[in-house]
Amino acid sequence: MEKIKVMTVFGTRPEAIKMAPVILELARHANEIEQVVAVTAQHRDMLDQVLHLFDIHPDYDLDIMASGQTLFDITTKALKGLDGILAKEKPDIVLVHGDTTTTFVGALASYYHQTAVGHVEAGLRTQDKYSPFPEEMNRKLTGAIADLHFAPTATAAKNLMNEGIKEDRIFITGNTVIDALHQTIHKNFKFENELLNSIDYEKRRVVLVTTHRRENLGAPMRHIYQALRELTEEFADIEIVFPVHRNPKVREVVQEELGGMERVHLIDPLDYEPFANLMSRAYLILTDSGGVQEEAPALGKPVLVLRDSTERPEAAEAGTVRLVGTDKDVVFQAARELLTDERKYREMSGAVNPYGDGESARRIIEAILYHAGRRHERPDTFRPCVS
Ligand code: UD1
Ligand code: UDP
Repeated sequence: MEKIKVMTVFGTRPEAIKMAPVILELARHANEIEQVVAVTAQHRDMLDQVLHLFDIHPDYDLDIMASGQTLFDITTKALKGLDGILAKEKPDIVLVHGDTTTTFVGALASYYHQTAVGHVEAGLRTQDKYSPFPEEMNRKLTGAIADLHFAPTATAAKNLMNEGIKEDRIFITGNTVIDALHQTIHKNFKFENELLNSIDYEKRRVVLVTTHRRENLGAPMRHIYQALRELTEEFADIEIVFPVHRNPKVREVVQEELGGMERVHLIDPLDYEPFANLMSRAYLILTDSGGVQEEAPALGKPVLVLRDSTERPEAAEAGTVRLVGTDKDVVFQAARELLTDERKYREMSGAVNPYGDGESARRIIEAILYHAGRRHERPDTFRPCVS
């Protein structure tokens, strides 16, 4: 029987982390699947860090990243680049992930070539088209194009059905980020970064911070950093570890507000392995990241989400994640509460796994094979364990 040709398209750090388990699983089915990996490289070094960790060697690399790139730059360069690759490779199905501009353009380019699309991490919604921007529209448009929808949770599947997507095209798989996390956390992990090795994680409380959302650039980020300043001044036992995103618009404001402060460690983005292991040792996490909102609950770490809305309500419902927005006083008070009130802290730090069980990539590949008529049964549905 002829092999099914599956092409994965991705371009940024989180897509790579979450696609890596899918690519590794595709490779395990080399007898029935031929795979092609195409990266836009919307991110460069932050993407390469992940490719290196998971030993992924793309067949195509569009290398589109430019400093200060706009949505128009990413969209046009990626669309043009993918046209040639799709014309040459003629895959049976293209897999895209999540909600970046690469994701949407990957789906659009495939549609123009009348090629089937599978959307990994489908169905996340805030129902606010500008929050997060442009991710909410990217994932909606990708969902409108996709033929197979790999929803991480039942809530995401419901969002898709509400938009008229037929149930038989939706597979509830869990999120592949938990597959990646399982492969990455080690109890006795040693950091290469001397600072991270030298912190006494028993005596000092590490507050881990990341920020990058486009809608938070400028004043909202400045307010977040001012809250961090005040926290550092109030709590002598905290160490803020802040791997700063490579976006110059983020770096500039971080430096202005937090540069040179004692116990505030502004470091370059970490490779995924040290970052995940640092999360597992942190006391508290403040972030506007999507992926971190999924990983931290699995590690029992309370998260304050620096956004006004979230497309990931499951962890908030389970009580390990709290939406606090970007107002300086609100961020400060929410963090202060967790640093002073042990009962509140304990309430938020129970490990929960609403997002996955480490089997998501297997379900996705089974679903593709089922859809192609190579399997008789649909894959099992991911069900979170209730703790
Ligand atoms: C992008 C995605 C966002 C995702 C995020 C993950 C879009 C529009 N945005 O946002 O959905 O949550 O990635 O991190 O798709 N840069 C580097 N090196 C890198 C990566 C970025 O220097 O390896 C700098 C470049 O100057 C680049 C800038 O960061 O122009 C912004 O990158 P971009 O991909 O446009 O936006 P992100 O905020 O990273
Ligand atoms: N991450 C990383 N190094 C860092 C910061 C984050 O490897 O210094 C990982 C993190 O564990 C998560 C992913 O990057 O898996 C999240 O990426 P990001 O916050 O950039 O994007 P989002 O998830 O918001 O799209």
